[in-house]
Amino acid sequence: MVKILVSGMLGHMGRLVAELADADKECELLGGVDLRTGELFGAPVYASFADVPERADAVIDFSSAANLANVLGYATKNRCAAVLAATGYTEDDLRAIEEASKQTAVFKTANLSVGINLLQKLVREAAAFLGDAFDIEIVEKHHNLKKDAPSGTALMLAESAAEGCGADKHFIYGREGMVGARDKSEIGIHAVRGGTIVGEHEVLFAGEDEIVTLSHSARSKKVFASGAIAAAKFIFGKPAGKYDMRDLLNG
Ligand SMILES: NC(=O)c1ccc[n+]([C@@H]2O[C@H](COP(=O)([O-])OP(=O)(O)OC[C@H]3O[C@@H](n4cnc5c(N)ncnc54)[C@H](O)[C@@H]3O)[C@@H](O)[C@H]2O)c1
Repeated sequence: MVKILVSGMLGHMGRLVAELADADKECELLGGVDLRTGELFGAPVYASFADVPERADAVIDFSSAANLANVLGYATKNRCAAVLAATGYTEDDLRAIEEASKQTAVFKTANLSVGINLLQKLVREAAAFLGDAFDIEIVEKHHNLKKDAPSGTALMLAESAAEGCGADKHFIYGREGMVGARDKSEIGIHAVRGGTIVGEHEVLFAGEDEIVTLSHSARSKKVFASGAIAAAKFIFGKPAGKYDMRDLLNG
């Protein structure tokens, strides 16, 4: 039985995670932390980690990158595994995650869907195969409430593409004005926001007279919530260290 604490439990993703944890026979929904207090599926929602009376086995964070220090503070103090699912981390945040992973098991991914992780692999392979002859551009689309841009997933895909190319690439975020001809070393990343779009990612390899497009479309946020529960079960009891979707899918 994995005792789960949900950070950001009253948000869109937090509610779904709480619902799945509550229904899962291998999990116990201990409660949650959010800016407001309350109750969900019979579990309390606290205003601060300091108020949580019992030690959780795993904390799943779907709050905000701005809450990272609190999440890591709780996880390291209690030697509790952490699933970091929020996006928009800074370089300092990434260093803090690295430090925390020396003390407890930390699972981090900008995208908890199996499909996106396959897409990442395909993008790396396509970039290696097509090489510099093809220009790489990424277009991501999300709902109008998303706070960070571009999406963490678009960045993850851009990094995979750059890795695959094996050449120096730099990221260009949108284009405007007289930007001049496209440089070979660019990977363009474009963010579209509107309505209730769950998450669309398209990676274009544009060559001379031909285009290869690899894409993924999330149809429901449930795919991320069930991925988070799977990640929590996966890292529960694992030694301190950094884990991601590749470990989960391979293990
Ligand atoms: N990794 C993935 O697969 C994946 C999938 C979907 C969303 N996300 C990310 O998850 C995060 C949440 O997404 P959402 O759509 O549920 O957002 P949301 O705004 O609906 O929910 C966020 C919740 O966190 C709470 N919160 C914010 N700051 C807090 C703080 N400092 N302390 C405690 N609670 C705090 C808010 O009150 C809210 O209830 C975003 O960063 C989003 O990009 C990741």
